[in-house]
Amino acid sequence: METKMPVLRHPTVDDGAQIHQLIEQCPPLDLNSTYLYLLQCTHFADTCLVAEIDGEVAGFVSGYIKPGASDTYFLWQVAVGQALRGQGMARKMIDAVLDRRACQGIKHLETTITPDNEASWALFKAFARDRKAGLEGETFFTTDQLGGEHSPEQLVRIGPFEAFA
Ligand SMILES: CC(C)(COP(=O)(O)OP(=O)(O)OC[C@H]1O[C@@H](n2cnc3c(N)ncnc32)[C@H](O)[C@@H]1OP(=O)(O)O)[C@@H](O)C(=O)NCCC(=O)NCCS
Repeated sequence: METKMPVLRHPTVDDGAQIHQLIEQCPPLDLNSTYLYLLQCTHFADTCLVAEIDGEVAGFVSGYIKPGASDTYFLWQVAVGQALRGQGMARKMIDAVLDRRACQGIKHLETTITPDNEASWALFKAFARDRKAGLEGETFFTTDQLGGEHSPEQLVRIGPFEAFA
């Protein structure tokens, strides 16, 4: 069956509950409270994006401009529903959010990745490759800092890059 083209748009307050459900279905992502996703849909909406198909949230990227570093986008979570994976949707969402007005002047992307998340490493290595940008990693949060039952989070910094044509 042919996959419908998703609409990529900023989230609104009405998306919070569906975003929560999507993240719940996307391990190994940490599931945050609906309240947190509602904040992303309101205060941080300009730097977040949903992919909507037939009224359903099928993908989500959250992030913000890093405090004290106006040229750096910190990507918090990116999730694509199982049915849409492997079709370039995560890349399209990241490119689209960086293309929005709120991200003008962004030259670096930072995110954190656990060592065993192969799909996430592949996604961000592909992003760095296509933007012809360097990729550096260092430990950001250790297992102890994360409460003892969580893989360490590696901080990945990609850049500098120019706007994507
Ligand atoms: C990670 C995730 C967002 C990728 O979404 P996606 O739409 O399938 O990714 P894309 O199709 O845009 O792929 C981007 C690149 O990553 C590669 N990739 C994606 N998933 C992969 C996997 N499971 N194994 C190996 N490579 C993978 C693709 O081949 C592509 O590389 P290419 O340009 O060299 O071909 C999705 O698997 C997901 O939601 N996972 C659960 C949540 C998560 O771990 N999020 C990331 C941490 S915040």
